[in-house]
Amino acid sequence: MEIIKVRRPRPVLRTLPSATLPAMKDLAGKHIVLGLTGGIACYKSAELCRLLVKEGATVQAVMTQAAMQFITPVTMQALSNRTVYASQWDDRPANNMAHIQLSREADALLIAPCSADFMAKLVHGGADDLLSLMCLARPLDRVPLLLAPAMNREMWAHPATQRNVAQLTADACTILGVGVGDQACGETGDGRMLEPHELLQDVVAFFQPKSLAGKQVVITAGPTYEPIDPVRGITNLSSGKMGFAIARAAREAGASVTLVAGPVAQPTPRGVLQVNVQSASDMLAACLNVVPAADIFIAAAAVADWRPATVAEHKIKKDGSGSPPKLGFVENDDILATIAKMPRALSGDMFCVGFAAESQDLLQLATAKRAKKGVPLLVGNIGPATFGQDDNALLLVDAQGAREVPRNTKLALARELVTEIANRIKRA
Ligand code: CTP
Repeated sequence: MEIIKVRRPRPVLRTLPSATLPAMKDLAGKHIVLGLTGGIACYKSAELCRLLVKEGATVQAVMTQAAMQFITPVTMQALSNRTVYASQWDDRPANNMAHIQLSREADALLIAPCSADFMAKLVHGGADDLLSLMCLARPLDRVPLLLAPAMNREMWAHPATQRNVAQLTADACTILGVGVGDQACGETGDGRMLEPHELLQDVVAFFQPKSLAGKQVVITAGPTYEPIDPVRGITNLSSGKMGFAIARAAREAGASVTLVAGPVAQPTPRGVLQVNVQSASDMLAACLNVVPAADIFIAAAAVADWRPATVAEHKIKKDGSGSPPKLGFVENDDILATIAKMPRALSGDMFCVGFAAESQDLLQLATAKRAKKGVPLLVGNIGPATFGQDDNALLLVDAQGAREVPRNTKLALARELVTEIANRIKRA
């Protein structure tokens, strides 16, 4: 990070209003060959194609004969805005070598759904149809192959399939995994194709730099809820969006991520382990469980500072006097400050990052808060302006000074923060 010495207070974070932000598409400039093999999950590939295009990719659909039993090339052509290829004898390329032309243009080959049969074929280097020919003919060093298997649970669990998964992994294919749940055959279990939005997240993640590969990251997110009685409590307006975006960005960067989340309504990012908690005490306990193995701890949660001194066993009733009940409060433990004092944090083995949600004087308050919490990096933001929003502006504060990160989507900011942390760890 380029540190700018801050000499005098100045208004910070008054940047572009969100409405004027250019929409950044995660797959802009990427060309994906989307291969479809035979399986009922082909109906999901139509939506996947649409999502890839919406995210900025160009998509070339290639279908096997079996795939065309399930959906038609017309559907895929309409959604990708390109005619579909289905035969190795297709003479549209001037050299009549569709398998070479199409595979050389691709940034990635994504096969979704990938049937058990097609996986077996890939293991053996079979090449008797256009799609398998393309897989074999692709330049291994620059055209990755991503597979989204789809099959009945018995087929998925079969030792032959599992052997093929292991072999394909050893051959540097990326197996995106399978979903769990109801299957078209009426059975329930592992093996169905991941949902289109999950596959989209995986493809986007695949292209992100792996700056945190092998690192363990623990992140707190969202508000906490401090009960007064069984039906009431104290909480705040944090949506958890920033913490969840950081979890997603850290996972995209190759980290193993545990997200300790207060009560929020955010979907768990792909591949992230989410631990749900209610109160600040629960959050501290959950964090203490996981931080011993962490390389990075990021406290993005808006933790309640106080909790009611006692929690009534039953709902507190009006007593008719018109006077409210008397509530006493005790201060919650400071999760970030507690973890930042651990020997692993003090020695630099665990890099701790705090947030500061302020409503004014961000630079001064965030600078003071970083020193008080004892963390190397603190991320300041204006709480009321960001709670619940999809974008934000940040102020990164360290011992040397501060740097503004201009307004952007929370995911873009999260990726920038992850890169920043990765660079600092590398330098340390
Ligand atoms: N934090 C924490 N545990 C608490 C309170 C705060 O881990 N009990 C963390 C937050 O997750 C954040 C940082 O400390 O990373 C600062 O939180 P913030 O709410 O901005 O400040 P407070 O420490 O609560 O101080 P104040 O309310 O006085 O601004």
